Amino acid sequence: MIYTSFDNIDLVKVLSFLKSHKKEYLSDQDISDILKISRVAVREHIKKIRSLGYQIESKQKLGYRLVNTTNLILPWELTDGLKTKMIGKKVYYFDTIDSTQNFAIKIASSSKENGTVVISNKQTRGRGRLGRGWISPQGGIWLSIILQPNFDISITTLFPIAASLALTRAIEKTVGKKTKLKWPNDITIKGKKVAGILVDVSVESNKIENLVLGVGINFQINQIRLERILKNTENFYGVISLMEKSKCSNPILLVKNFLYELEKIIELLEKGKRKIIIKNWTKKSSTIGKNVVLSTSDGKIKGRAIKLDSDGALVIYNKKKYQRVYAGDLIHS
Ligand code: BTN
Repeated sequence: MIYTSFDNIDLVKVLSFLKSHKKEYLSDQDISDILKISRVAVREHIKKIRSLGYQIESKQKLGYRLVNTTNLILPWELTDGLKTKMIGKKVYYFDTIDSTQNFAIKIASSSKENGTVVISNKQTRGRGRLGRGWISPQGGIWLSIILQPNFDISITTLFPIAASLALTRAIEKTVGKKTKLKWPNDITIKGKKVAGILVDVSVESNKIENLVLGVGINFQINQIRLERILKNTENFYGVISLMEKSKCSNPILLVKNFLYELEKIIELLEKGKRKIIIKNWTKKSSTIGKNVVLSTSDGKIKGRAIKLDSDGALVIYNKKKYQRVYAGDLIHS
């Protein structure tokens, strides 16, 4: 099942009608007459809307009334009241997909897709950094954003770091929890991973053609189950659910806030304002100042994490030598 923000479907017309008449009951005949949709179709749409998590009360002889909204990040919910200029104007929503990242990469070269968001309720083959899988059950936020930015190619390595900073801001603003940043771009709470970021870049003639930013947030997931599955992964340091199961939550607001913060940070990058990003990232970093062990494809690097360079490289000091690294698996020791 796929929904988009640009298909003007009857289901959304029925839903919008219910939304704008929350205080009264509407019969299927009323809805049918006004929207010019058959009564049978109206009933089918009501059934479908309910299956999407909306609560609709129905009373004999009176009709239907919308009493509660959904937690699914459906395109029309995400675009409603979104304060961005460009990101999230176009949204694809899947109930299940292999990977939002793979779908986004396939369409990313079209000039019509700048800012497009691809979101899925669950993923069957989610991708993580360093060629790993990413477990993506229902309850998490799994999305990819297509960007065709106007910044220099030298900023590419700083971009995931900037995006992770935008995500910490959105999380703090939406749910009020303190987060930390573990290099390169993990978001942590109480030392455990709550969200991760993956960036796929397409470059042509030394220019960024597009970036696909993949974001995975363990929004309201079964932490014990996930830790049991992941515990034998190399350098695993624990995962945490952003919201406890029983707490009521608003994933749609979190995504809206993230898209807004991301757009602001991209504007800074486009103006070349790296320093402020480095400064704010450093403030939230749990890595800088720590002794670290970094596993790279060329072996292990040990030392003290000194600072983040203006291109996002981590500077590690050991035996009177400074080393700059861009990728790898990092352990704080
Ligand atoms: C990491 O390893 O820390 C990055 C994980 C990124 C996962 C997200 S979920 C949405 C998007 N689709 C994918 O297949 N991966 C990214």
